Order: sequence, then structure tokens, then C-alpha cells
Amino acid sequence: MNKQKIYIETYGCQMNLADTEIVQGVLKKNGYEFTNEAEQADVVLINTCAIREHAEERIYGRLGAFRAIKKHKPNLVVGILGCMAERLRSKLIEEEKIVDLIVGPDEYRRVPELIDNALIGEKGIAVRLSRTETYDDIEPYREDGISAWIAVMRGCDKFCTFCVVPFTRGRERSRPLQSIVNEVKSLYERGFKEVNLLGQNVNSYRDGEYDFADLLSAVAKAAPTMRIRFTTSHPQDFSDKLIYTIAEHENICNYIHLPIQSGSNRILELMNRTYTVEHYLERIEKARKIIPGVSFSTDIIAGFPTETEEDHKMTLEVLKEVRYDGAFMFKYSARERTKAWEMGDDVPDEVKTRRLNEIIELQQKISYEINQELIGKQVEVLVEDFSKKSKDFYMGRTDTNKIVILPKDGLEIGDYCIATIVRANSATLFAEKAEKIEKLPVLQNTYEKN
Ligand code: 5AD
Ligand code: SF4
Repeated sequence: MNKQKIYIETYGCQMNLADTEIVQGVLKKNGYEFTNEAEQADVVLINTCAIREHAEERIYGRLGAFRAIKKHKPNLVVGILGCMAERLRSKLIEEEKIVDLIVGPDEYRRVPELIDNALIGEKGIAVRLSRTETYDDIEPYREDGISAWIAVMRGCDKFCTFCVVPFTRGRERSRPLQSIVNEVKSLYERGFKEVNLLGQNVNSYRDGEYDFADLLSAVAKAAPTMRIRFTTSHPQDFSDKLIYTIAEHENICNYIHLPIQSGSNRILELMNRTYTVEHYLERIEKARKIIPGVSFSTDIIAGFPTETEEDHKMTLEVLKEVRYDGAFMFKYSARERTKAWEMGDDVPDEVKTRRLNEIIELQQKISYEINQELIGKQVEVLVEDFSKKSKDFYMGRTDTNKIVILPKDGLEIGDYCIATIVRANSATLFAEKAEKIEKLPVLQNTYEKN
């Protein structure tokens, strides 16, 4: 048995966090141990993100730090996992010789073998993408906790013209419904309180005749007192059936992350987003009608190629029209291999920055106003952790995914409570008086696959 100690650092999206748990699952099965301190490790792995240039730069910084450790610990193995793997293979292994192994998102089963080779001085690269790999049989390594991620599908076939994901993560494929339901049940039995179903575009989930709404409903029934969240939805595939499914199940959270990217139909077309602003707004309107109190967040890109001042104003108008609870806002970052790369990166950086700042400022104002309306109201909160700033307070979330700081009031982490909001800013609600509630199973029939 190996007793090599592994340290893993994870960057990027929730999918990457879920992937790290899969890699740890694979390693655990092979007898490796983990450490939270890079200095203690025999093997350092970085799970990378290539979605924007900024993310890549941070990872280069970390590699520099590990190179420094390697100076006084020459046997240290350094490896790159995930989205940057394919892109960096020749650069990092052959030219700069910083890393010993590089493993892409579909080759995580080979991590133990590649580590073993690296320990005897052989460098290794495994970056092939697969049409079928879902790691369905791998049990992710998870410490006990409140919230868990489950990748229900991998890859993406949408080919938005700005996005590297179809190249770094390959084609869309889904895990079988029943095995996801079983995983959720076992998390439920272990005392987890929330599960987050992940996919680059969950709405294209498919298992034979079952679609994502079927999966969501099966999961909601299997774990009736657990909160069910999911991300990311694509506006084109955001169906009525899904809207009704969210409304029907009390434990499916009333929160939808629905990236619009731009408020200009001309830009949406150049982005190959395959919907119009009108279609998008109609989906929001329908969801609000069927799911009272639903909250929305979005992703916005500022400064896509050819974006004019007019296009940018349309994005600001959409933000005003929808009034999102929150948004993830980015400056366009040209990525090699994508279609948009060919369009040139013609919006000057200072213009992108100014537009992004206008978007952020407007969104913060809207989030602030929406949160002010909650003052004096009672909200249901799941207590997730201690507050980052003080152990005298807890941090939790509303069903609508808003962060709440609340007094301890005899509660424990993992409890549900009703809290009264007394203060709010654009990002956080502050509560006073929190009273524990028991979550009663609302739906008790478990799902039978017929
Ligand atoms: N430049 C800027 N933002 C991007 N995103 C994806 N690719 C790029 C890019 N090249 C953003 C999109 C996506 C989110 C995950 O990251 O808004 O929804
Ligand atoms: Fe990228 Fe578009 Fe797929 Fe999202 S839907 S992962 S933005 S290609």
C-alpha cells in the first residue's frame, strides 16, 4: 500500500470542486492519503480552470510557489489536472519542465498510475477526451458536511463562440438517473442537508426517456428534507416542464441561475447563444408566474468582439428589466480555439473595464434594493457554517440563495431556522432572532424506475 501524501488545490467552477472529489475518490481507493498543507505533501496537484485568462494567470503564480518548494524538496511531484491540461502539455512538461504529470478531465482514473510513474522519475501526460466517461462508479471522496456537489452530466455541446469548455471538457454525456438518486440517498443518510446538481448545461441532461426535470423530481422525492439546487441552466432549453417541476417540490430551491451574457440580440447571435432577449424575458416571466418568489442570477460578459455602446446599453436595460438578485460579471477574454478568437478582440481594454464597472454598479444597486425589501421579513435559513468574520455568528442561506449572517440562538450547523432580517447590503442579509424548525418530509413516495 502507498502512503504517499497528496495535496490538491482547486480553481474555477463548482464542477472543478466536484472533479477534485472524484480524483480523491480514485486516489483513496489506491491507498493514498491527503494533507491540507502543501509543505507536508509528497505530491501536489492543481486542478485548473482555463475559462478566462485571469484564471490561468493565477495558476501560473501557484506553479511558481511550488517550484520554490521543489528547490528544497527535489522529490516533490507536481501535477496539473483539469481544463488547462491539454493546452499546457507541451509548454509545462517539455519546455519549462516544471510539472511531472498532466491529466485532463476525462482521464482521472489514470492519476494513481501517473503519480507512481512520476515518483520514479517518469513524466506523464493523459489528456484524451472521452465521449462516455462519467465516473459513475467512482465514489467521490467527501468529508461529512452540509452541502455536496454531484456532477450529473459532463461536457458541453453548445459551442458558445467565446467558450473553451467544449474543447477542454469535450462532448455532453449524462450519468444514469438511478445512480444519481442512489448517491443522493446515501448523502441524505449521512446527514447532508443540501445537494447541488451540476452540469455545464443541466437542461440537456438525458437518460433514455428521462430529462433533467425527471431527474430533479426523482432526487427531490428521494431526499425530501434536503435542499436541491442545480446549475447551470441554458435559456434555450429552459422548459415549462422544468419550471413546473421546481414549483411542485418544496425542497427544490426557488433559485435559478440563468446566464443571459448580453442584452443585445446581435451580440447573442455572434455568441451563438441560440436565443433572443425576447425569448429569455418570456422564460423569466413564465418562471415568476409559476414559482412565486423565485430568485434569479445571471452571467454577463462585457466587451465581446464588435460590442458597441448601443449593445452595452441594451445589457444595462436587461439588468433593469429582469432585476436579478445577483450576477457574475466578466470582461470578455479571448480564448484560443474558440470561434470568437477569430473575430478579433476589438473592444479596447479600458472600454471593457468601464462597461464592466457600469454593469457591476447597476447590479449592486439592484441587489441592494431587492435585499432592502427583505428587512423586517422572516426567511427560512439553512445554517451552513460559522460566519467568516466571527465564530459568534453563523452563516446560512435562504432557499433563494442569499447569504444570511445570524445569531447562534442555540442553533447548530445543519439546522433549519426561521430568521428575522434586520439589515441588508447588496451581498448579505443580517438576521436577529433565529428559531429552529424541523423540516417535515413533504413528499414521501420514493422514485421507482419503471
Ligand atoms: N470571456 C469572458 N467570460 C467568459 N465566460 C466564459 N467564457 C468567457 C470568456 N472567454 C463566462 C460566461 C459563462 C461563465 C461561466 O464564464 O459568462 O457563463
Ligand atoms: Fe460554455 Fe456555452 Fe457550454 Fe456554457 S453553454 S459551457 S458558456 S459553451
